[in-house]
Amino acid sequence: MNCLFFKLRTTKYTLKADQPIGIFDSGIGGLTVANAIKKHLPNEEIIYFGDTAHLPYGDKAPYSIKHYSTEIAKFLLEKKCKVIVIACNTASSIAYKDVLKVTQNNAILINVIDPVVEKVHKEAKQNDHIGIIGTKGTIKSGIYRKKLKELNDDLEVSSMATPLLAPMIEEGFINDKISKTVLESYLTDNKLKDINSIILACTHYPLIKDEINLFYKGKVTVVDSADIVGNYVKAQLEIQGLLNKKNKPKHQFFISDYTSSFEKSARHFFPEKITLEKASIW
Ligand code: DGL
Repeated sequence: MNCLFFKLRTTKYTLKADQPIGIFDSGIGGLTVANAIKKHLPNEEIIYFGDTAHLPYGDKAPYSIKHYSTEIAKFLLEKKCKVIVIACNTASSIAYKDVLKVTQNNAILINVIDPVVEKVHKEAKQNDHIGIIGTKGTIKSGIYRKKLKELNDDLEVSSMATPLLAPMIEEGFINDKISKTVLESYLTDNKLKDINSIILACTHYPLIKDEINLFYKGKVTVVDSADIVGNYVKAQLEIQGLLNKKNKPKHQFFISDYTSSFEKSARHFFPEKITLEKASIW
């Protein structure tokens, strides 16, 4: 049985269904996860934190990622979140254990890596070759490789850091000449030769998933965490009897620095009335 799943089942929480779901990332990437959570759980209230003052997380030192992530978790706990989703692969791979020390049994803590690893492992054929792209921090941690190999040592796993992608997406270079050139130069790298599937191990990347699919022309399965995690959060709330029945929930967005890119993306994914406020994390 998957460890995360087992831990969530056996931990005793004293939470209430009408508490919100907290989600955080360095910037707009986690909005892809928030959007999927909204689709799977339309009655849940979402509190999102985008740490725009400190992005990108991908090339920050581990102690900085741990510090920012634990501070944001404290902020979301103060907002009484019943679930905290670390909607960032970099923070999930580097700071999960530290955040868990903060949340303890005061909120269900979910990272974006375990649900994806579980699903990819279930669907992979015995000797599949799986490619992984993500930030320097995520790839350097080796976490996907380690977890996939633990489940099936016959899988071939090749990973490559693609550090230009998150800042490129955050700056709005999507579906244009720049994104095409950058993507092609990464995806034609020898490290990713002969893969059967590719994990988009950064929550920013679903925003360029169409371009990645276009590059592979259906020959490689492109896996992103948004929908898998949305589904996973729903399953956990069902197991814990914590599904909200609220009608028309109000969502709140907090950012550590104002960026027009964040506002534009938040309003794109959440066209309903939302609040966007500045909150400092040092
Ligand atoms: N979206 C994040 C991730 O999944 C962070 C990207 C970044 O800030 O470098 O890793």
